[in-house]
Amino acid sequence: MMKKNRELLILVIVTLVLLLNLVLGVHSAEKYTRHDFPNDFVFGSGTSAYQWEGAADEDGRAPSVWDTYAHDGYVHGGQNGDVACDGYHKYKVNRNDGRGPVNPKALEFYNNLINELISNGIQPHVTLHNFDFPQALEDEYGGWISRKIIRDFTNYADVCFREFGDRVSYWITINEPNVFSIGGYDQGNGPPHHCSPPFCINKSKRGNSTTEPYLAVHHILLAHSSAVRLYRTTYKEKQNGFVGISVYSFGIFPNTPTENDILASQRARDFLIGWIMEPLLLGDYPTSMKKIAGARIPTFTNRESKLVKGSYDFIGLIHYTNANMADNSVVLENDLRDFSADMAVFMYTPDLYANAEYPVEPWGLIEELNHFKLNYGNPPIFIYENGQRTASNASLQDVSRVNYLKAYIGATLDALRNGSNLKGYIAWSFIDLFELLDGYDSSFGLYYVDQNDPELKRYPKLSAKWYSWFLKGGRSSVEAIELEKDPSHVSNGHFFD
Ligand SMILES: *[C@@H]1O[C@H](CO)[C@@H](O)[C@H](O)[C@H]1NC(C)=O
Ligand SMILES: *[C@@H]1O[C@H](CO)[C@@H](O)[C@H](O)[C@H]1NC(C)=O
Ligand SMILES: *[C@@H]1O[C@H](CO)[C@@H](O)[C@H](O)[C@H]1NC(C)=O
Ligand SMILES: *[C@@H]1O[C@H](CO)[C@@H](O)[C@H](O)[C@H]1NC(C)=O
Repeated sequence: MMKKNRELLILVIVTLVLLLNLVLGVHSAEKYTRHDFPNDFVFGSGTSAYQWEGAADEDGRAPSVWDTYAHDGYVHGGQNGDVACDGYHKYKVNRNDGRGPVNPKALEFYNNLINELISNGIQPHVTLHNFDFPQALEDEYGGWISRKIIRDFTNYADVCFREFGDRVSYWITINEPNVFSIGGYDQGNGPPHHCSPPFCINKSKRGNSTTEPYLAVHHILLAHSSAVRLYRTTYKEKQNGFVGISVYSFGIFPNTPTENDILASQRARDFLIGWIMEPLLLGDYPTSMKKIAGARIPTFTNRESKLVKGSYDFIGLIHYTNANMADNSVVLENDLRDFSADMAVFMYTPDLYANAEYPVEPWGLIEELNHFKLNYGNPPIFIYENGQRTASNASLQDVSRVNYLKAYIGATLDALRNGSNLKGYIAWSFIDLFELLDGYDSSFGLYYVDQNDPELKRYPKLSAKWYSWFLKGGRSSVEAIELEKDPSHVSNGHFFD
């Protein structure tokens, strides 16, 4: 009898908890463990070629637009990625001229790297293009603003699928097209440094801010979908992998609850995210963009529209911070407008180019994931970058980064429980890298690299200890002092030993 009552009581409690969850929508995942996520949900951390490899002049590596940009002195303090984390040597190569014979040293490096990851139980997720566009093709035909890139990019993807696709199952074609097209072709504050007056943040070489951002993204979408088609027709059956594209997303909110600001934030979403997602989902740009940019935004032919529509197996989401949008539609009265004027908003964001710490505001991630669920067809999503920027700091006690990761992984769990089609979370970044724009002055890494040490020794920060504790099944709310006691984090500074 006693036992029966207890069972009943437990049942009632369980029902109450379920009911409460229903009433409250979802429970906020403040305390959780890895076991709260599905078994096939993947976790990881990321790096990128230019930001990690170094060895800029070795083994036949030719420069990318980022080498040129950094050597022209545009990164804070004139820094560059010539050495970066010396990843090329430190473990054991975009060694590519853009076209022509494949550099065997490059294949060897990436083959070794992929094998090393797999033999350590790490599943590689590979991004084909992360900003470091070959300078040779930039010089030859202007890179992304030429249709010629579609063929060259597809051939490059072909090499990677063919050489690595037996071991790599998750491919991103292009990272953050919605960011580097604005920096590189509208405001001219990133390579290839194009813009036209009066829209330049700094003097540019040449360019056309009114048209080139749209043109670049158009060719990016065509190059992306061409690579996806190639994978599907030639590799999919044998390799069984998946191909997607990565989109940068702020958590987007109206600056005030007025109708104008609510419309402004919808417009900003169309321009920043719908720009990529609507062609992928529907085969065309958002109506608001076509209306405002008119003839300056390219038109998809029927054939192109069909090629682009549905050309993804999953989406890579890049998310760090939130932005409040205020209406600025008065600029739409100007005839001469760049991409930013077309968007017609004032964006209030944390300072993305200083050494300020990113705030912990995980509701922006939840809001974005809700939009992908409701408006962009709830695609499978891997969060491919999320992490806290702080000043580079020799102190390994990055408590604020632990709090950031704790909150954002918790938000990921909340969104997952509320129906988002989430498949994985990859923290940015595995190690302190050459950060684009900030150089070595800022830091996102779980590991610190001593840039004053000729050996570039690596040290785990508290965040590395927390993440590895969590991945081993520990509860998220662990105290820092417990992490410091766990001896399994001691590292001699190398990745894999
Ligand atoms: C623009 O130029 C100014 C003055 O030369 C410089 O201080 C600033 O860092 C430059 N900004 C960018 C984004 O290149
Ligand atoms: C930009 O391109 C448009 C469309 O081709 C053209 O009308 C305009 O004059 C160009 N602007 C500059 C600064 O070259
Ligand atoms: C570096 O970290 C220490 C210890 O957490 C902190 O007191 C200091 O303010 C940090 N310095 C910078 C420049 O962030
Ligand atoms: C859960 O998703 C629904 C839409 O499916 C949305 O209206 C609601 O705001 C979401 N809840 C949270 C807490 O994000």
